[in-house]
Amino acid sequence: MPVPLFDPHTPLAPLREQIDAKLREVIDGKRFILGPEVAAFESEFAAYVGTRHAIGVANGTDAITLALRAMGVGPGDEVVVPSFTFYASAEAIPPTGARPVFCDVDPETFCVTAETVKAAITPRTKAVMVVHLFGNVAPVKEIEALGLPVIEDAAQAIGSRSPTGRAGALGTAATLSFFPSKNLGAFGDGGAVVTGDEELAERVRMLRFHGSRDKTTFELIGHNSRLDEMQAAILRIQLPHLEQWADGRRRGAQHYREAGLGELVDLPVPVGGCEPAWHLYVVRHQRVDDLAAALGAAGIGHKIYYRVPTHEQPAMREYAPANGRLPGTAEAARTHVAIPMSPVLSREQADEVVAAVRDAGLGRPH
Ligand SMILES: Cc1ncc(COP(=O)(O)O)c(C=O)c1O
Repeated sequence: MPVPLFDPHTPLAPLREQIDAKLREVIDGKRFILGPEVAAFESEFAAYVGTRHAIGVANGTDAITLALRAMGVGPGDEVVVPSFTFYASAEAIPPTGARPVFCDVDPETFCVTAETVKAAITPRTKAVMVVHLFGNVAPVKEIEALGLPVIEDAAQAIGSRSPTGRAGALGTAATLSFFPSKNLGAFGDGGAVVTGDEELAERVRMLRFHGSRDKTTFELIGHNSRLDEMQAAILRIQLPHLEQWADGRRRGAQHYREAGLGELVDLPVPVGGCEPAWHLYVVRHQRVDDLAAALGAAGIGHKIYYRVPTHEQPAMREYAPANGRLPGTAEAARTHVAIPMSPVLSREQADEVVAAVRDAGLGRPH
């Protein structure tokens, strides 16, 4: 039985008629930009995350640039960012005028730690970006204790919980992506900045609309970066189901554990007491290319996402670390592979995946 890497369609199928009716309503209402759907989504989403403010923007990459600018990051500043992440986490920094400074990750969690961040801090560091990669939750409070503001790139972690709050409610500000495959996905691009800081929220609101509060006076060189009404309406219909979908992802991980996957590969380790809503379920093995080939032959969806880490990408050459060494990043990049995960991953599907991994006959992960 083939098992797909994602299954965004099954959870959405029961909502299809509601979505169709809502889209007709938006079209008939003739408000397409910054109207009632965006305003309602922003307050509902802030309540879900547990922050005071949410500001809808065009995508998760813009969300990072706007949040950093609103935090006062600019030319001459440095922002610490992990290299083992989707390229956009770092790409969003240079448009502010600041430089990305790459730090390492713990390959067991795929997240930064206070130690890896500390090693990258200089007198010019203005902020630290943690990435809640694959749905794990980086240790924000430990990193804040280093004395710098933390921005959470929570693009992959909506629905994840930590002992001190949801991913997105832990730092000075957090950024989300509603790219269609994300845990909460639009039918196009979308993103948000969430924060408890009123002034920061107001600056993001201005920055997303050409640096203006009232569309008449333009106080800043801003951006045109707005979530649109159609996407907000679609997200509002899905939001009440997000918690149940996140639980489904947690259940999927439990199925894998109960089926014995941990004897065959290294499982992702949740950071200190957090409960990840795994966006991607990423395991590690020293012979990962052989494992990927065996999964492919058995019809099991899989993907190696970040084989070339961000600091080694051609566009990031000028920001590469001076000594070039990020050993945890190199280990994660060399050994990881994502296997099927969705809100509806069944025990039977998990058994199928585990059987394919076992049949690959690669021996223990170390
Ligand atoms: C970790 C991470 N950061 C940032 C982004 C950028 O989001 P978007 O594609 O909405 O610009 C993504 C997803 O694409 C992501 O996975």
